[in-house]
Amino acid sequence: MSRTIILLFHRNIAKSSANRALRDRAAMIPNVEVVDVQSLYSDGVIDMFTDAGAEAQRLLSADRIVLQFPVQWYSTPALLKSWQDSVLTRMFYIFAEEEGDRLTGTPLMIAATAGNISGAYGLGGANRFTIEEIFTPLRATAHRCGLPWHEPYVVFTADKLDEAGLVEAAEGYANAIETFIAATPSASEQEAE
Ligand SMILES: Cc1cc2nc3c(=O)[nH]c(=O)nc-3n(C[C@H](O)[C@H](O)[C@H](O)COP(=O)(O)O)c2cc1C
Repeated sequence: MSRTIILLFHRNIAKSSANRALRDRAAMIPNVEVVDVQSLYSDGVIDMFTDAGAEAQRLLSADRIVLQFPVQWYSTPALLKSWQDSVLTRMFYIFAEEEGDRLTGTPLMIAATAGNISGAYGLGGANRFTIEEIFTPLRATAHRCGLPWHEPYVVFTADKLDEAGLVEAAEGYANAIETFIAATPSASEQEAE
């Protein structure tokens, strides 16, 4: 049985509509665990030696990882940057042999919500760059850490969706996660085939 961990980075999930709908739907998928990182580190500080040790073990227990967040200023929420600075620095620079090397090979998927329309993202659009280009730093990080990159799931006009739109976005997310799981069988599942 493989294990998928979704790390959710949202400053205030109680006030969210899109990420909350995605979270609630994803949590219904068997063997998928959603972790609200903001609720664990409400001050935004993730200590590299204490907190990040637990976060490293969490990652190492997963067969695949999803990073879920709202796009903010063409980037990630600050907490996701803090998480990278603490958890990934610890795992890949301080304890590379004990931790980082063991995480290498774990597939990674980005799930993001964006307020703008999809047409705004791209050459000629208001935002000039495609959403894939905006994810470049995350993709570079995944490459550096040896985490195979899976096609991202993106919800546009995320802050303007009505109830039906939220259900559609959430169902799309469930499909994307199930596709991710099917495309990335765990080592034991591969052996069983
Ligand atoms: C500080 C801030 C910056 C934002 N920057 C962007 C942005 O660069 N591009 C964009 O499409 N939406 C941007 N938005 C809109 C959010 O992405 C959108 O409100 C969010 O994805 C909705 O999800 P939620 O209902 O879970 O909060 C921004 C929102 C905030 C609060």
